[in-house]
Amino acid sequence: MTSLFSPLTLANGSTLPNRLAKAAMEENMADAGQFPGRALRDLYAQWAQGGAGLIITGNVMIDGRALTGPGGVVLEKGTPLDAFKAWAKASQSHGAQVWMQINHPGRQVFARQGGNAWAPSAIALDLGKHSKLFAAPIEMNEAQIQEVITRFADTAFAAQQAGFDGVELHAAHGYLISQFLSPRSNQRTDQWGGSLENRAALLLQVVQRVRECVGPKFGVGIKLNSADFQRGGFSEDDAAQVIEWLNPLGVDLLELSGGSYEAPAMQGRTGDGRTLAREAYFLEFATKLAQRARMPVMTTGGIRRFEVAEQVAQSGIAVVGMATALALQPDLPKRWQAGETGAQAQPLSLAWKDKAMSGLAVMALVKRQLRALGSGAAAAPYSPPSAVATLIWDQIRTQLLNRRYAKFLRSRPLP
Ligand SMILES: Cc1cc2nc3c(=O)[nH]c(=O)nc-3n(C[C@H](O)[C@H](O)[C@H](O)COP(=O)(O)O)c2cc1C
Repeated sequence: MTSLFSPLTLANGSTLPNRLAKAAMEENMADAGQFPGRALRDLYAQWAQGGAGLIITGNVMIDGRALTGPGGVVLEKGTPLDAFKAWAKASQSHGAQVWMQINHPGRQVFARQGGNAWAPSAIALDLGKHSKLFAAPIEMNEAQIQEVITRFADTAFAAQQAGFDGVELHAAHGYLISQFLSPRSNQRTDQWGGSLENRAALLLQVVQRVRECVGPKFGVGIKLNSADFQRGGFSEDDAAQVIEWLNPLGVDLLELSGGSYEAPAMQGRTGDGRTLAREAYFLEFATKLAQRARMPVMTTGGIRRFEVAEQVAQSGIAVVGMATALALQPDLPKRWQAGETGAQAQPLSLAWKDKAMSGLAVMALVKRQLRALGSGAAAAPYSPPSAVATLIWDQIRTQLLNRRYAKFLRSRPLP
């Protein structure tokens, strides 16, 4: 029986001290200049103390001209590394590995934020009456695709130079790589579109280029959707095939998730209800897909109780990922290891009629909690503040950050 607290040695030769991972959560807490600052360091020091064996950062942008949110951290070739070194060190202070998640948002860029919304095809997000929240995407040309591949590798190399133990490439949740994978968002007729092989080429080339740049000893992980949960989207069979192609490429960890802004399965909600029933939303998909994967598999989504985490570990899943639960209760791993197996985080969901708004409100509640943790002001046990007030405050804060980001953008040319 695999214990949650047994170490795991990865293909790169490094060892995770246990099987619990803090999954990526975009904090939107960068300092001016899109650098990680004190608040992020203090937040990550809490997770370091909390006992997870692997800490994956919120997504860090490979291109300052395209952010998932205006308070996003940006790491590019030539970015000064001091702030990143301090961030890595704070995260590693209690023996965990820290991996930087690196990402390009593609078309999932908010319209009010500005910057580039590059995409495989000029197909806008469909969020019904909220679709206008997102920028109109432009179809990438060959030079832009090559630039993105180079940027992923440059950012991974910079993360390595800054002292991170690995990177996780974000290929899930409807961001750029996942847009290439899905036939709904990728309708190209060149070598990057059409067959699954062509749609997966961006991911596979990014993985290869990153590995070439960082060498064999650095952690390289991928977060992939087990499915998009949309008719005509990236399916479970597609995921199985992509995993077969990833097998020989030296990937140390494969995190399985699902969904996108259009179908937020990662929040436990899908059109067909397939992820709703369980607490570990993607366990069934992950156990099936793990049989095709030669690298260790991690799954994230809905896990907040010890029994469920154990069940996941007993199902052939090497690493148990938790995001929201560790925002509400950062020391769950430490408590569980000390035998306090009744410790758990409360579920955080809203049953608003407007699903898009309730998704944004849940994200705003979690991000508010991350800021409270980063400033040392988080109350224990967590008591949820008003979701409406939090959403409104989030909009105001976002506007202020958008203004700051506009200045950052003005300091660099948009092609
Ligand atoms: C506030 C917030 C920010 C998130 N940001 C990211 C991100 O940057 N990258 C990512 O891969 N997933 C992100 N996620 C998704 C989580 O990693 C995770 O897949 C999802 O929340 C389901 O897991 P959970 O139920 O343990 O929260 C985010 C989730 C939340 C709540």
